[in-house]
Amino acid sequence: MVVLESDRLIIRNYRESDLAEYHKMMSDKTNMYWLIELTTTSLEESRRSMEFALEMNAKEKMRLRCVALKENDRLIGAVGCELPTKTPVGHIVDPMAWFILPEYQNKGYITEAVKRVMEYEFLEAGCIRIVTAAFKDNIPTQKVMVKVGFRKEAEKIKARWYDGQMRDRVEYAINRDEFLQMNSMK
Ligand SMILES: CC(C)(COP(=O)(O)OP(=O)(O)OC[C@H]1O[C@@H](n2cnc3c(N)ncnc32)[C@H](O)[C@@H]1OP(=O)(O)O)[C@@H](O)C(=O)NCCC(=O)NCCS
Repeated sequence: MVVLESDRLIIRNYRESDLAEYHKMMSDKTNMYWLIELTTTSLEESRRSMEFALEMNAKEKMRLRCVALKENDRLIGAVGCELPTKTPVGHIVDPMAWFILPEYQNKGYITEAVKRVMEYEFLEAGCIRIVTAAFKDNIPTQKVMVKVGFRKEAEKIKARWYDGQMRDRVEYAINRDEFLQMNSMK
């Protein structure tokens, strides 16, 4: 997997030494409230989850990236891309998702990481479209989506059963031409 750098971050594949922080992140049920299906309940489960990420990355079915601080190479978050669709004009990422340890929130790190991954996918990897989705009540993630240039494509009312009730879902996307235009690269 290609290592990406931004001002403050290194975005790279996972390694064994990330396990303690990875476990801390994935087993935090409060922070991961909206992604409960990804949470782990033991170090062993976190290890398997990290191994799964490495396997998917090796097979190029997904790009599940570790977001680490440049200053100490320590894991602080993650940005994941599923790569389900190839077309004659490029691949589609659907969905892209992200999360970050609570102590690193509200510092712009995820915004910086997502922008860098989008730049890589659109400018270097041949991606033509990126889709992301969330429960409508997950406000922080929608702020990130808008900040990096996604536009809302759908709002689905009471679309999915989650934690005891039917919940609204929102879907956002950005196409390569929009990304290029936004960054005046066209
Ligand atoms: C969603 C999530 C990743 C957002 O993280 P975050 O830390 O709030 O994101 P950022 O720090 O990049 O951006 C948010 C705030 O950082 C602040 N910020 C500080 N410096 C900044 C900078 N240089 N650039 C951008 N934002 C900056 C801003 O105040 C911004 O908030 P605002 O736009 O509302 O003012 C985080 O809440 C999370 O991990 N949630 C749990 C997992 C989850 O729900 N993931 C999404 C599943 S779809």
